[in-house]
Amino acid sequence: KSIAVFASGTGSNFQALVEAFAQPDSGVVIKALVCDHALAPVVGKAALAGVPIITVDYREFVDKAAAEAAIVSQLPEVDLIVLAGYMRILGPTLLAAYPQRIINLHPALLPSFPGRTGIEDAWRYGVQITGVTVHFVDAGIDSGQIIAQEAVRVEPGMSVDDLARRIHAVEHQLLPATVQRLIQGGKI
Ligand code: GRF
Repeated sequence: KSIAVFASGTGSNFQALVEAFAQPDSGVVIKALVCDHALAPVVGKAALAGVPIITVDYREFVDKAAAEAAIVSQLPEVDLIVLAGYMRILGPTLLAAYPQRIINLHPALLPSFPGRTGIEDAWRYGVQITGVTVHFVDAGIDSGQIIAQEAVRVEPGMSVDDLARRIHAVEHQLLPATVQRLIQGGKI
C-alpha cells in the first residue's frame, strides 16, 4: 500500500512515518511529500529520505480549487493521504478526489481544542488530560470521524513547552501505528 504525506513545517511527524516505514516489509511506501512552502524544513527531510517532493505555492493559483487541482494532477496513485501538520483546510477538490482516504493528526483530544493552537489552548484552559487524535478529514476544521486517540496527562507545574514535547512524542508513535492499523485492517 502507498501513502502521500502533506506537511507545511518542521516535519517531525513526516520523519516518524519515514522511519516507521523504512523497512520494505512494513508494507507501506511513502510515494510523495506535498508541501505548500518550498523552504519548509520538512522538504529537506524528504530530500534526505529520498521521498519525491511536490511543492505547491497556493499564491500562484487563482484560488484554492486551482491549487488543489494542481496537487491532484501531480500526485501519484496512493491509497491514503496523511495530513501531518498541513496548515490548510482542504477544499472540495481534494476531498472529492480521495473520499474517506484522507486522515489528519491533531495535537488535542477532539472535539476539544480544534484549530491551529490545540496544545496551547488545552494548557491555558487548565485541563488535566489532553492528548492526540487521528481522524478522517471532512470539510470542517478538525472534524470528521475519529480513528484513534491517546491521552496525555498534564502534570502540575508543566510548562506549555513540556506539554508540547510530550504531545509530539505521542504523535510520533500514534500516527505511524494508526496508518499501519488502517492498512492492515483492510480499511484502506
Ligand atoms: C503536529 O503537532 C500536528 O499535530 C499538528 O501540527 C504539528 C506538526 O508538527 N497538526 P511536525 O511538522 O510534524 O513536527
